[in-house]
Amino acid sequence: MDDQNSATSPQLPLLEVRELRAEFCVAGGVGASKGSKDATGARANCVLRAVDGVNVQLHDGEILGLVGESGSGKTVFSLALLRLIQPPGRIAGGQILWEGRDLLHLSEADVRKVRGREMAMIFQNPQLSLNPVRTIGSQLSAVLRLHHAISPHQAREQSAHWLREVGVPDPERVLEAYPHELSGGLCQRVMIAMALSCRSKLLIADEPTAALDVTIQAQIMDLLLELRQRYGMAILLVSHDLGLIARMCDRIAVMYLGRIVEVAAATELYDSPLHPYTKALLRAVPVPDPHHREKLQVLEGEPPSQLRLPHGSCRFLGRCPEAVDRCRTTDPPLIAVNGTTHEVACVHYGALGEAGLVEVKDGEKQGVDPSSPPARNVIWGDQESEASR
Ligand SMILES: Nc1ncnc2c1ncn2[C@@H]1O[C@H](COP(=O)(O)OP(=O)(O)OP(=O)(O)O)[C@@H](O)[C@H]1O
Ligand code: SF4
Ligand SMILES: [Mg+2]
Repeated sequence: MDDQNSATSPQLPLLEVRELRAEFCVAGGVGASKGSKDATGARANCVLRAVDGVNVQLHDGEILGLVGESGSGKTVFSLALLRLIQPPGRIAGGQILWEGRDLLHLSEADVRKVRGREMAMIFQNPQLSLNPVRTIGSQLSAVLRLHHAISPHQAREQSAHWLREVGVPDPERVLEAYPHELSGGLCQRVMIAMALSCRSKLLIADEPTAALDVTIQAQIMDLLLELRQRYGMAILLVSHDLGLIARMCDRIAVMYLGRIVEVAAATELYDSPLHPYTKALLRAVPVPDPHHREKLQVLEGEPPSQLRLPHGSCRFLGRCPEAVDRCRTTDPPLIAVNGTTHEVACVHYGALGEAGLVEVKDGEKQGVDPSSPPARNVIWGDQESEASR
């Protein structure tokens, strides 16, 4: 973990997201009573709130981790930052302030200039992100020429340069190759080279190694750390996995049911997690010590449907081992704990005023749901040379 750009950074954020909401129009969502139909007799279309009031900041050169269970809204949030939500989805409100400009107020043409040139995104399956019928060279050159006034020859030279920068051992061969001829790890390096070649200030990496061999995962993560160091590129790193995020990030934001429920510097979040959901995620992270035989604990219960979110109560209520009566009548906002940069959305902390921490009375605690989706684990294996693949 590296706190050089920790939550205490005083400069104006590169990216500031305020109350961002993104939703999908689906059958039977918010506002549809059971069995409701529209005028044609079809099931009424309603709203699934995938991102429901997210507030977060990202600073120059910072690596912010975004973690949460499957379906918590991490990908929808990431796509929303680039205004890439497609119908039946839409951004329903909020602000995305990119160096002070609200991207939600820009024309599509202006957003295209930001996308790729200033912010880029890489995905879980890099092979699917590349055009299967064009060589890597033609795709890299096309991206470079879209953003810079350069000749085809210069684009080719620069493409080879950026492939070298991301550790591709034989750039000339890779430039001639088609995506299916390369390993997943090499394709991900190509995607990262594309982002770098445009000198993007922010790389959004959505589970960038989830589809790769465990032996390659660490190499890609090391590359991202090196590039941040060398080019000062900020990274939003999305993952299910707190183990991986902890190794990489300056700060961590924890997402639950479309909202950030806790955000803090990585070391702080690890040493002193406050939100019961974060604590549960951490208890599910394996300790890399063969003598440590403590059983991993999984998070109990399932989140409520995003089609019918609870109103006026905490969203974690049904699964929370620390719940008290007022959790039923309070939807806690994300607030700083005792004036620090550690923010949490839970009635026990800094809740409901300036009083600071609120004591939990043992007698008030309630039980949890027995059903339990297992948390995914990450194993950092020995690294083997990707170049030999
Ligand atoms: N195209 C879509 N149409 C309808 N609902 C969608 C669509 N895309 C995402 N959703 C819903 O939005 C919610 C958030 O999904 P999202 O993909 O952002 O989750 P995630 O946190 O990225 O999960 P994972 O860790 O599995 O990638 C989920 O309930 C999902 O079903
Ligand atoms: S507000 Fe209550 S239910 Fe929600 S996380 Fe805190 S203790 Fe648990
Ligand atoms: Mg996702």
